[in-house]
Amino acid sequence: MEEEKITLRPFTISDADDFMVWASDDKVSHFCSWNTFTDKNTLIDHIEKTILPHPWFRAICLNGRPVGAILFTPATGNDSCRGELGYMLASQLWGKGVMTKAVKLAVKSVFEEMKGLERVEALVDVENKGSLKVLEKVGFLKEGVLRKYFVLKGRTRDMVMFSLLSTDTIYA
Ligand SMILES: CC(C)(COP(=O)(O)OP(=O)(O)OC[C@H]1O[C@@H](n2cnc3c(N)ncnc32)[C@H](O)[C@@H]1OP(=O)(O)O)[C@@H](O)C(=O)NCCC(=O)NCCS
Repeated sequence: MEEEKITLRPFTISDADDFMVWASDDKVSHFCSWNTFTDKNTLIDHIEKTILPHPWFRAICLNGRPVGAILFTPATGNDSCRGELGYMLASQLWGKGVMTKAVKLAVKSVFEEMKGLERVEALVDVENKGSLKVLEKVGFLKEGVLRKYFVLKGRTRDMVMFSLLSTDTIYA
């Protein structure tokens, strides 16, 4: 996978067909809080109401075409030094280094764009091996396991807390 072909950009409604490829895939939604989309109109509604107004939600594009999504949700008030990263990729592209590259691009962008941001967090299910490895490869620090921290589709899950600081070596 040639790194220069991976880019990030905001979504538009016209991305709905490409978005449906991963949003309708149970393998992709398995560790995510959202349920698999079965209907394109529901997805369009979700893009309009949730994704377009989101402070930082980007399409991961391969040769200009969306193949996944990455989002950063900044915290507010006394927590405004930090925010949480989330991501998903079409399953036919897993294991080729796409998300490792996309996370590097996203973290660089948010540290540049968001004034006062010092810490990017990611919370990962202890069984989500691919996601754990992506964050380790990018250089996130594994801070610990938060026990019984998140209810995923009715099951309470242990989650690994990762962080990357704006002063950490790869971004200093
Ligand atoms: C997790 C996810 C984003 C990984 O994306 P990806 O592009 O496949 O990740 P990369 O190719 O950059 O993988 C990094 C490493 O993890 C490994 N990896 C990826 N998926 C793996 C899996 N399911 N099991 C074990 N290792 C895995 C890759 O082989 C690679 O290791 P390597 O460099 O030693 O070969 C992708 O599987 C996905 O979208 N999953 C569903 C959504 C999700 O779980 N999002 C995260 C919620 S916190």
